Amino acid sequence: MNGRRPPESGTLVEPGVDRVTVDGRRVEPAADHHYVVLHKPAGVVVTARDPQGRPTVMGLVREAGAPRLFPVGRLDTATTGLLLLTDDGELANRLAHPRHKVAKEYVATVSGVPGERDLRALRGGVMLEDGMTLPADVEVLGSARGLCRVRLVIREGRNRQVRRMLDAVGHPVRELVRSGFGPVRLARLRPGGWRRLRPAELVALREAAGLADAAEASP
Ligand code: URA
Repeated sequence: MNGRRPPESGTLVEPGVDRVTVDGRRVEPAADHHYVVLHKPAGVVVTARDPQGRPTVMGLVREAGAPRLFPVGRLDTATTGLLLLTDDGELANRLAHPRHKVAKEYVATVSGVPGERDLRALRGGVMLEDGMTLPADVEVLGSARGLCRVRLVIREGRNRQVRRMLDAVGHPVRELVRSGFGPVRLARLRPGGWRRLRPAELVALREAAGLADAAEASP
């Protein structure tokens, strides 16, 4: 290890720092990553530190016991719902990369009731200042008292994309919740609560990010 042959028994190896070879071949330690699903509440910012002193998502997942978790993509401060955090940089980068078109599901409460024309526009793609959006899945869930709940699935992650798409068709967002990220669902996680990703969810998430390793999961 690190040029010493053989190392004393019981030597501790620090992944990413120590270099271990056996018969001249590099041996990589098994990666031991952390994956956390957080229900981000409104008013909590998705940064490590906030100059304005607002609460951060990092504060909410401190007890997850991982020293260097970072968020997969962003949610606006006002948006609530599912945020993945991990120290697995490769998976995080792939999930955030537009090439993999990982589905993000949102439930938006909007002003007014979008008509067929608005829904068609959202489904086909709307023109925003940074270009046309990819086709989205859109469904009206219900309406009452001048507000409407809309389920929207997008496969990009542009800044404030859902709010801008709904603004563009004349139905500004009053409330926005992310309910799904790829195969992962928010389900009944309470606001501010977090849980570890289940092994089957991790396999499905890796597949969604183009890291097909379903075989690794079988016994
Ligand atoms: N789209 C938005 O407009 N806001 C978010 O927080 C996420 C997606």
